[in-house]
Amino acid sequence: MAFTKLAVVKDIPKGVMKKFDLGELEITAANVEGGFHAFEDRCPHMYSRLHQGKLEERGVVCPFHKARFDVTTGEKTRDPRVPVPRALKMGAITGNIRTHDLIVHTIKVENGSAYIEH
Ligand code: FES
Repeated sequence: MAFTKLAVVKDIPKGVMKKFDLGELEITAANVEGGFHAFEDRCPHMYSRLHQGKLEERGVVCPFHKARFDVTTGEKTRDPRVPVPRALKMGAITGNIRTHDLIVHTIKVENGSAYIEH
């Protein structure tokens, strides 16, 4: 694995997320309390763009169905909230919509720049 320069640290203030394209990789970097974290931009549920969601402390909330992921570990901390049509509420299949953890990448900061391992 190699490190690639992602951003100048001062361009991502505390509490802010920013998306980057690295070839085929779509990465979002988040500044959480001065620490930098990087994760795949696409939500593991239905691939919405997480950088368009909301950063709440250590968690990113998906803009589509509000699944939540810890950006420091990638752990899913809330499953999607998908409205189920009234006619379908009888079936157990529709009651448990789940998704996977988020893929995260290691970031190192040197000389005012953030580098991502991939
Ligand atoms: S697309 Fe992200 S929770 Fe559904």
